[in-house]
Amino acid sequence: MGIQTTNISVLFDRIKELRRRKAIMKTRKTLHKDYVKTMTKSLSIAFALISMISCKHHNEEYHKVTDKIKAESKHYKGTSISSDQYLAEMNLIEITEGTHTFMIPDRKSQITSYACTECHTDELEKIKGKDAKKGHWNISLKHANSDIMNCATCHDTKNMDALKTLTGNSVDFNLSYKVCSQCHSKQFEDWKGGAHGKKIESWAPPRASMTCTNCHNPHSPSFEPRWPAKYNTQKKQERK
Ligand code: HEC
Ligand code: HEC
Ligand code: HEC
Ligand code: HEC
Repeated sequence: MGIQTTNISVLFDRIKELRRRKAIMKTRKTLHKDYVKTMTKSLSIAFALISMISCKHHNEEYHKVTDKIKAESKHYKGTSISSDQYLAEMNLIEITEGTHTFMIPDRKSQITSYACTECHTDELEKIKGKDAKKGHWNISLKHANSDIMNCATCHDTKNMDALKTLTGNSVDFNLSYKVCSQCHSKQFEDWKGGAHGKKIESWAPPRASMTCTNCHNPHSPSFEPRWPAKYNTQKKQERK
């Protein structure tokens, strides 16, 4: 019996403890509810105030996003770096094509057999007949096919120091891109915009770009296909 009474008193104690805890929880809950209420109230007031202030600011200064962009880009200084120091030593010429103005390298100083008129003092027919020596044995034309292209398509046979257009207008050797662009207008458009070809030295202004003949040999303009390195090593091993 002694054991049972102790058990009952323990049980009563437990129930009491549980009730106490429940009461505590209840007060905590109400406290929390009040806290949340006041916080939301003050936060919404703060938000309202902030948005009122910022709305006012926007309305006063800029009516539209475009106005804002316009106003804030006034302070834009552009890039402060320049390619000038790298380009200073180069022999460049400035060209303007449509809305694009940029520089390309001088070519005449690079052409071995320039000036052509040192030998081409006479008309082609005459020097051809005089001595049967082949003047340009190292040049063979691999550009389009011979029905549409021969030396006189691009070279001005009446003034060998210049190139010419298909309609017979003279073109300086430095501006040979004008000859290429007659037939390759797509690449020419891309080149003007800077998408075909390559910039010289750096992207920083002023712009200097390679010209067509820096990369393409006008007499044989396409590039040899290149095999991946793996293919070459494989082939080499197979041959052994
Ligand atoms: C060292 C002398 C010499 C120089 C410099 C020279 N040529 Fe010639 N060229 C010749 C001779 C000789 C012929 C004629 C023989 C022949 O048909 O190859 C000729 C022929 C040509 C022909 C006609 C080829 C054909 O098959 O119909 C062209 C085009 C030509 N030259 C362009 C040029 C141009 C462009 C230059 C300058 C960039 C130049 N030459 C510089 C000597 C020269
Ligand atoms: C598609 C146009 C085109 C055709 C066709 C053409 N040329 Fe040229 N040729 C050029 C251009 C452009 C240059 C200048 C290249 C450069 O800027 O280096 C040139 C350069 C030359 C040069 C000077 C090369 C040097 O390094 O000394 C000679 C010589 C020449 N051509 C001869 C010929 C002969 C001969 C033919 C015919 C077999 C011929 N060309 C056909 C466009 C052409
Ligand atoms: C009279 C027209 C004409 C002129 C001028 C001309 N080309 Fe071409 N070009 C052609 C034709 C046609 C082809 C052959 C296209 C093909 O095979 O799909 C060709 C082929 C090429 C190719 C090779 C394309 C490929 O798919 O491999 C290159 C690169 C090229 N030309 C560059 C030039 C350059 C640089 C110049 C100026 C020096 C020039 N061309 C001037 C007509 C021309
Ligand atoms: C910095 C070097 C570079 C310059 C400058 C350049 N090209 Fe090219 N071009 C290339 C390369 C690389 C290819 C790709 C060749 C390939 O895929 O086999 C190419 C391809 C081409 C082709 C073949 C068709 C294509 O689009 O793949 C044509 C035509 C051509 N170029 C014409 C021109 C003309 C015209 C100019 C000048 C207005 C020019 N290129 C300037 C490097 C150059």
